[in-house]
Amino acid sequence: MPRSPAALSAGATDHGLPDRYRTRPDVTRDDLERALADAIDRIDENLDEFYDRFPTASSDDLVYGATANMDGWTTSFWTGLCWLAHEVTGAERFRDAAETQLETFERRLDSGETATHDLGFLYTLSAVAGHRLTGNEQYRSLALTAADRLADRFWEAPGMIQAWGECDANTESWERGRAIVDTMMNLPLLFWASETTGDSRYASVAATHARTTAEHLVRADGSTCHTFEFDVETGAPVGEETAQGYADDSCWSRGQAWTVYGYAVAADYTGEAAYLDLAGTLANYYLQHVEADGVPRWDFDAPAEQSMRDSSAAAIAACGLDELARHLPTADERVAGYRNAALATLGSLADDYTVGDGSNGLLAEAAYHPTEGDYDECCIWGDYFYVEGLVRATEQWGRYW
Ligand code: GLY
Repeated sequence: MPRSPAALSAGATDHGLPDRYRTRPDVTRDDLERALADAIDRIDENLDEFYDRFPTASSDDLVYGATANMDGWTTSFWTGLCWLAHEVTGAERFRDAAETQLETFERRLDSGETATHDLGFLYTLSAVAGHRLTGNEQYRSLALTAADRLADRFWEAPGMIQAWGECDANTESWERGRAIVDTMMNLPLLFWASETTGDSRYASVAATHARTTAEHLVRADGSTCHTFEFDVETGAPVGEETAQGYADDSCWSRGQAWTVYGYAVAADYTGEAAYLDLAGTLANYYLQHVEADGVPRWDFDAPAEQSMRDSSAAAIAACGLDELARHLPTADERVAGYRNAALATLGSLADDYTVGDGSNGLLAEAAYHPTEGDYDECCIWGDYFYVEGLVRATEQWGRYW
């Protein structure tokens, strides 16, 4: 019997919302509308090149290459940008591009290239968004197949979804029984699947994974580790380890941002106040550690000589903070604080992190994998969440997640 989420969220220390977010930032609605219009112009300029192909996960000298590969975890962020541009402008060319790309997502399911928790990212921003916006039943069916494959990655004994690799009880591997914080943002596919089918199995997998993450990947100080291994036979916790952060016991800022947004969405689907409390604790840790301009260093614990920023983490956090503010009781003073923080972050990204002519991306200074030399570039998910954040701030928007 899993512990109740209410018991879990009390486990982490909440450092409180920093005072600087009590004041509304200078950024105006006009500023954000202009930033959104500029971003949509850039998406439009890229549409021919990436009509039925995808930008690479990160750029090279601020220019994305084009790939027709179905593998990887990031293709749907471009499709998601096309859906956002279609919603904001009403232009059919963006919808046509998204629908053309959806054929790739269908082929990927047929090919069996699906041994990853990233199915949530991949099929939420392509098929769930497509179904929400067009009502096309084929997209719903694609997304449900993806949700089935994601739910198949659940290990009963530890109560978690394995992030990477084949889920094979008989073969030892580094991936076997390894949970990662990023998965919190893949759970919406499962919550959506239960909502649309009435079958509670998907949501039960998602809720159990969320509880296990709260118990083992969220630390007592409100920070998160990147990955955590479990014994899949006994369920015993083995220990934390990083894959993309600075150290096993450090806090990778993008991971922290994934959990803020992930728990805020989980709270909305389940109505669990404990998830909302936990999202607040995680958000406060993030806001206590982010740089003054709202863009975090890639890892909050990296030494000064590794002070690269991650604009993509800031964009994810801006969306997560806005989502959190939408679900807190209106009288809660954190509502204004999280909205202020989201707006300040978007204003800073628009003013100081957007790339100019000569690039086909939107945000500079994203850090995919600094320890492998991949930083100071555009990352396609950072571009997606930047535009989602601007849409949240300027339009009435129904979440894809
Ligand atoms: N989910 C992979 C990453 O954030 O880099």
